[in-house]
Amino acid sequence: MVDGQDPRGSIFIDPVAYANQEAWHSAAGELRRQAPVLRVAADGYTPFWAVTRYDDVFTVSRHNDLFLNTRNSVLGPDLQYELLGAMGIEPKTLIHMDGEEHRQHRNVTNTWFRPRAVAQRQAAIDNIAEEFVGRFRDLGGCCDFAQDIAVPYTLRVIMSIFGVPEEDEPTMLRLTQGIFGAADPEYLGDLSDPFAMVTTTIAEFEDYFNAMAAERRADPHDDLATVIANAQVGGCPMDRHATLWYFVIVATAGHDTTSFALSGGLEALLRYPDQVKALQAEPQLVVNATDEMIRWTSPVRHFLRYLTQPTTLSGVEVAAGDRLLLSYPSANRDETVFEEPMTFDIRRPNANRTIAFGGGEHFCLGSTFARREIRTLLPRLLATVEDIGLDGKPEFAQANFVGGVKHLPVAATLR
Ligand code: HEM
Repeated sequence: MVDGQDPRGSIFIDPVAYANQEAWHSAAGELRRQAPVLRVAADGYTPFWAVTRYDDVFTVSRHNDLFLNTRNSVLGPDLQYELLGAMGIEPKTLIHMDGEEHRQHRNVTNTWFRPRAVAQRQAAIDNIAEEFVGRFRDLGGCCDFAQDIAVPYTLRVIMSIFGVPEEDEPTMLRLTQGIFGAADPEYLGDLSDPFAMVTTTIAEFEDYFNAMAAERRADPHDDLATVIANAQVGGCPMDRHATLWYFVIVATAGHDTTSFALSGGLEALLRYPDQVKALQAEPQLVVNATDEMIRWTSPVRHFLRYLTQPTTLSGVEVAAGDRLLLSYPSANRDETVFEEPMTFDIRRPNANRTIAFGGGEHFCLGSTFARREIRTLLPRLLATVEDIGLDGKPEFAQANFVGGVKHLPVAATLR
């Protein structure tokens, strides 16, 4: 932190802080009560305001003309963004656009993500879920649920609609972790430098998706890759940079997020054997349980917004041009919205008010997919076990953007 600045803001920057969820939530809870809009200044980072209350995160998300996305939407050292800019590969996804530009680009894939379109993929999701429940049984019910089931299952679902062949899934996984997990020593591999990891990863993505786009233009398939490769925006083909980043966001946003919700959701559920039994007895509870898992885990840790004119949030004056960090995990534990927010409860009456998917014009495009994936796998998995519990200590990712339980040793008695 910068000398003389409030050190409490370090929990939003330090990837290691997120790996201790109890300590993190305790610190965020203090901020919600005492400094809900906290100015954070740290070496190497342009200062930002950390917004921790539900109502403030909601308000900022909904007022898309007052709080803009264009510019860096994810917190990273200034140097990293300067480097990406100098290399001409600075991010430009849907998340980085506003207004008409954003609407036009979102329209490219919007129909693919509408509830009716997603419902048509249910049979495919069922088959993939069956396959992974089979894998769980083959492992005798003893496995690292996060790595053996949640990660490959959610990856398979999204890649199957995207059009990436199964043999390339490990590459997609590695590249996604190169962007989202760049600070976690487990994913850094031979590189000692997270910046280098991000730039290398983007260059690799570019090679892969340029080839894929050329292929889909020559030979269209019934998949998202074909839609993106052939997209028209404002009557012209979508530009090369935006096309690359469209591929990147679809390839990365859909699986780590959902797998962290699934693994972290199961981790929470296993703390309450009576809730496991309730779900086994009443599988229809899975709809609400899924929302509670997503509230509880909040796998996306933040996004940034930029203020166009001075405004006041929770009594704090924020100037035009300032940036705000929306803390979804904190907002999802706000005691003014969720009664006993630190308790996991699959019957929570307002679990569907989870703000883990954001809000307003950028509301998560894939939320219907994410919910369906969890709702499809969980009841099938629980139907196949007599009982299930932890078989070791869960481990959380060190990541300040997308994170959650990365290792979940479980042991089950199979039926
Ligand atoms: C539990 C799982 C997921 C969580 C927690 C999550 C969370 C989020 C959040 C917080 C945002 C930004 C919202 C905002 O700025 O207001 C977002 C945007 C987005 N998500 Fe998700 N997401 C999940 C799953 C998915 C899936 C399965 C996909 C499918 C590809 C996906 C694709 C996207 C896209 C494309 C955007 C950008 C939308 C835009 O800017 O218009 N997400 N997500």
